[in-house]
Amino acid sequence: MGAALIDGKAFAAGLRGRVADAVPAFAAAAGRAPGLAVVLVGEDPASAVYVRSKGRAVEEAGMAGFEHRLPADTTQADLLALVATLNADPAVDGILVQLPLPPQIAEDAVIAAIDPDKDVDGFHVVNAGRLATGQAGFVPCTPLGCLMLLQDRLGSLKGLEAVVIGRSNIVGKPMAAMLTQADCTVTIAHSRTRDLPGIVRRADIVVAAVGRAEMVRAEWIKPGATVIDVGINRIDAGAGKTKLVGDVAYSEVVDVAGAITPVPGGVGPMTIACLLRNTLVAACRRAG
Ligand code: GUN
Repeated sequence: MGAALIDGKAFAAGLRGRVADAVPAFAAAAGRAPGLAVVLVGEDPASAVYVRSKGRAVEEAGMAGFEHRLPADTTQADLLALVATLNADPAVDGILVQLPLPPQIAEDAVIAAIDPDKDVDGFHVVNAGRLATGQAGFVPCTPLGCLMLLQDRLGSLKGLEAVVIGRSNIVGKPMAAMLTQADCTVTIAHSRTRDLPGIVRRADIVVAAVGRAEMVRAEWIKPGATVIDVGINRIDAGAGKTKLVGDVAYSEVVDVAGAITPVPGGVGPMTIACLLRNTLVAACRRAG
């Protein structure tokens, strides 16, 4: 057990507290609380759990939550009409449409319809473009949470070698852009990368976001590296039970890394904390 534990749960609680502390001053100046609209289409159980925890977090932060639950057979036109209404609603600072959406709805079309200045998920191409070009916008909550944990642990990231495993639009690509912005030397690795262990062994910072249980092994890790595990995989634990594990083989990597996030309790809690942070930022920017 060599590595320091990066306690995302504690950091997220602190961030949520700081956001909540800032809400009364905003409300006094604006005459209203910051508002987040969350849209859930259909009955996906995992999505329903996420949406419930987001609603609770919004309430605990003293913000106004607007929850919209639509049936699984909602048409794309109906969802686009709701997004247009939320775009025009002055009480709504942030809009989150929970993904995945049912198959009859094109996710890209819905994300493109959200006002980029209310896009607290940071998924709109305008915000992806702003991030890629170093302009202020909204960045996706999970990689933002990873960056905050890294900066809290390491201070300046300048000149460090970072390897991001995974190239999704929600985590891998924005993570790489944010680390580049923070002056890291960044490699994006993925399922087609040749000699993945050799590439990862160069890294001072490893961010694993591939969605494959315990794929990253101890031999891949440079001694002392900081390892951020974004994976949440449910695996068979025997005796009819399951357990949550990350993309990193924690029990062995913990002996090599300098610091590591656990699963659960690492990156996971940061996503909602960063959503609240983005909503407060959206509210402040919109209030001018
Ligand atoms: N589904 C899983 N994670 C997320 C998220 O961060 N935002 C949205 N909109 N949908 C998700």
